[in-house]
Amino acid sequence: MASPTAAAAAAPSHRFLLLLFLALLLAPFASAAAPHRHRLPSRHLASLNASAPPTTYFEVDRPIRPPLGSIGPCSTLLLSHSFGATYGRPPVTAAYAPPECLAAARTRGGSLALAVLEWSADCRGRQFDRIFGVWLSGAELLRSCTAEPRATGILWSVSRDVTRNAALLAEPGEVAVYLGNIVDQTYTGVYHVNLTLHLYFHPAPPPLSQQADLIVPISRSLPLNDGQWFAIQNATDVQSKSLAIPSNTYRAVLEVFVSFHGSDEFWYTNPPDEYIEANNISNLPGNGSFREVVVRVDGQVVGAVWPFTVIYTGGINPLLWRPITGIGSFNLPTYDIDITPFLGKLLDGKEHNFGFSVTNALDVWYIDANLHLWLDHKSKKTVGSLVIYDAPPLALGVKSGFSGLDGKFLTNASRHVSATGWVKSSFGEVTTTFYQRFSYANSNVFTTNGTVQVVNQTIDAKSGIFVKDASAVLLSEEVHKVFPLYIYTGTSDQVGDEYSLVSLVKLGVNDKMVSGGKLGFSYRSLRNAQSARDTMRVKKNLVVGGLGNTHQVYKYMGTDGCYFRDVSSRNYTIISDKSDGSCSKRSPSGSDRFSLQ
Ligand SMILES: *[C@@H]1O[C@H](CO)[C@@H](O)[C@H](O)[C@H]1NC(C)=O
Ligand SMILES: *[C@@H]1O[C@H](CO)[C@@H](O)[C@H](O)[C@H]1NC(C)=O
Ligand SMILES: *[C@@H]1O[C@H](CO)[C@@H](O)[C@H](O)[C@H]1NC(C)=O
Ligand SMILES: *[C@@H]1O[C@H](CO)[C@@H](O)[C@H](O)[C@H]1NC(C)=O
Ligand SMILES: *[C@@H]1O[C@H](CO)[C@@H](O)[C@H](O)[C@H]1NC(C)=O
Ligand SMILES: *[C@@H]1O[C@H](CO)[C@@H](O)[C@H](O)[C@H]1NC(C)=O
Ligand SMILES: *[C@@H]1O[C@H](CO)[C@@H](O)[C@H](O)[C@H]1NC(C)=O
Ligand SMILES: *[C@@H]1O[C@H](CO)[C@@H](O)[C@H](O)[C@H]1NC(C)=O
Ligand SMILES: *[C@@H]1O[C@H](CO)[C@@H](O)[C@H](O)[C@H]1NC(C)=O
Repeated sequence: MASPTAAAAAAPSHRFLLLLFLALLLAPFASAAAPHRHRLPSRHLASLNASAPPTTYFEVDRPIRPPLGSIGPCSTLLLSHSFGATYGRPPVTAAYAPPECLAAARTRGGSLALAVLEWSADCRGRQFDRIFGVWLSGAELLRSCTAEPRATGILWSVSRDVTRNAALLAEPGEVAVYLGNIVDQTYTGVYHVNLTLHLYFHPAPPPLSQQADLIVPISRSLPLNDGQWFAIQNATDVQSKSLAIPSNTYRAVLEVFVSFHGSDEFWYTNPPDEYIEANNISNLPGNGSFREVVVRVDGQVVGAVWPFTVIYTGGINPLLWRPITGIGSFNLPTYDIDITPFLGKLLDGKEHNFGFSVTNALDVWYIDANLHLWLDHKSKKTVGSLVIYDAPPLALGVKSGFSGLDGKFLTNASRHVSATGWVKSSFGEVTTTFYQRFSYANSNVFTTNGTVQVVNQTIDAKSGIFVKDASAVLLSEEVHKVFPLYIYTGTSDQVGDEYSLVSLVKLGVNDKMVSGGKLGFSYRSLRNAQSARDTMRVKKNLVVGGLGNTHQVYKYMGTDGCYFRDVSSRNYTIISDKSDGSCSKRSPSGSDRFSLQ
């Protein structure tokens, strides 16, 4: 029998609407502070069978391959901890000393080829999915979500390439992990975690400075009874940090971490406030289905993040994500904003303000960033100036119509940011252009007296970086990401106090990148699509049956190799799984062929 969920625990009159938000009512603490949506316990978790094998959850991703000719790994356990009653407590910390093998490799004239942070965890008992973050000296290295345990126990691991943080890994510091968990008589699951750093080395010195020389965290400093992320609670909330950067910086890139929770966990399904108010619904979050993170330096918009719709391991319907989890749920994507064109005003040695806000936000968004800085070792002072800047306001259009609980909301939006600036350093005068061009369309339709909701959304994000000096184009890189999302959820077959709850989710990431110039050529093309369906039978507020099916196809081709996987699960069991790590077998189909519009 399938696991009951929060949805099944109540059959309110428009129970589907409450499906998504019942959690808030049931949360063991106020939603304002809730790290995550909460659910009722799974009924069959009541008896634990210690001898049954645990389930291994996984997110489909291409394996991280050590570069050719590199040696390793040299592995170091950074932290081992059992996360029990950790909610609202300080993060768990451990002193960080650069592994001896790292210093030894440098002494021998070698360099870091690859650094992988591995989180591995197990849990047995009853527990919700929890968001967590891992920081090193205040810079975030991993944002992730725990898997939901089951009676027989679960295991999972997440590996993230953290090579770009080489500068941070070379210095002593402090590892901090915040995973806000609550353990009581009902929620018994304790997450046992090992955090390990795996390093690989090249025998030769580092090539041209691909990795930054300095990583400056734009996050909250310890001590805190929370993660080091900023918590953005509403549409007018701006969270920021002021800091000075070295005066010999010649390149700067912000790496932004974003996750959404509480009333905005499913922001892309939220109807406008007017619908909520007209129907006097108290537990359904509103203000429409559009959100974006806006990043400002000294109040000037430098870029935006139109985030991928990560669905956490218990999201929409937990039966969908067992054991294949939602795209990005174990390793949340980060977003790069190149702020080199703005360096001119940041090189004065004074503090400048880096701020984050979320358009239309409801409580709560967790956001922080790492500022990657490249320094000119041959000079004490670089200079620069912004020469072209174009950042018109967000264009947002909503067409809404509703009658009672039935309604149709069509939302579209677009934004463009572009900036060109030069920086003079010992490399000469180098001009950088960075642009972002976003578009978004969302259709959100409620029918059958509000018991059926269909959301169809596409986010399209293009960005590019052009770097040139007097004689050549040093770098020309374009990235095009498309995030399609389709969600159907509804109730049907109601007979007395019994009904069926059906959920269908299609979720995808299409990502293409091409990069050229004096520094070499590279490209990648990823098509990653999930389709998940679940039917749950509910009687007298209890699940009496249910079945989840998930199918995922992952196709990657790049100058660094290829990876293909086609995997299906049904009710905790993998029913088919094909994968291939070679580039030769498949010739690219039309949709896979590399191109940028
Ligand atoms: C789903 O799996 C559970 C646990 O293994 C089992 O009890 C249940 O019968 C299965 N349901 C179906 C419809 O196969
Ligand atoms: C629609 O749902 C509302 C709220 O649950 C309920 O009061 C109303 O009777 C329903 N209307 C119909 C036609 O079922
Ligand atoms: C526990 O799990 C094992 C292995 O799956 C099974 O053989 C055994 O019958 C289970 N025991 C109980 C009490 O369910
Ligand atoms: C953590 O490491 C310890 C010691 O090696 C090991 O016994 C334990 O199984 C590990 N736990 C996880 C979840 O990897
Ligand atoms: C928005 O959030 C900020 C920060 O928590 C708070 O100070 C402010 O009062 C909130 N504004 C509204 C309108 O709720
Ligand atoms: C709205 O709901 C509240 C409680 O849920 C109730 O007290 C109030 O009368 C309702 N208002 C209208 C206009 O239906
Ligand atoms: C919700 O959005 C509408 C339309 O953009 C706006 O008029 C209203 O002020 C917003 N409500 C809040 C609480 O921000
Ligand atoms: C929204 O779509 C309509 C119709 O396609 C178009 O006219 C309008 O310009 C779009 N608005 C935005 C903000 O993209
Ligand atoms: C979602 O909308 C897009 C664009 O309007 C359309 O092409 C697509 O077929 C829709 N998806 C579904 C599943 O209806």
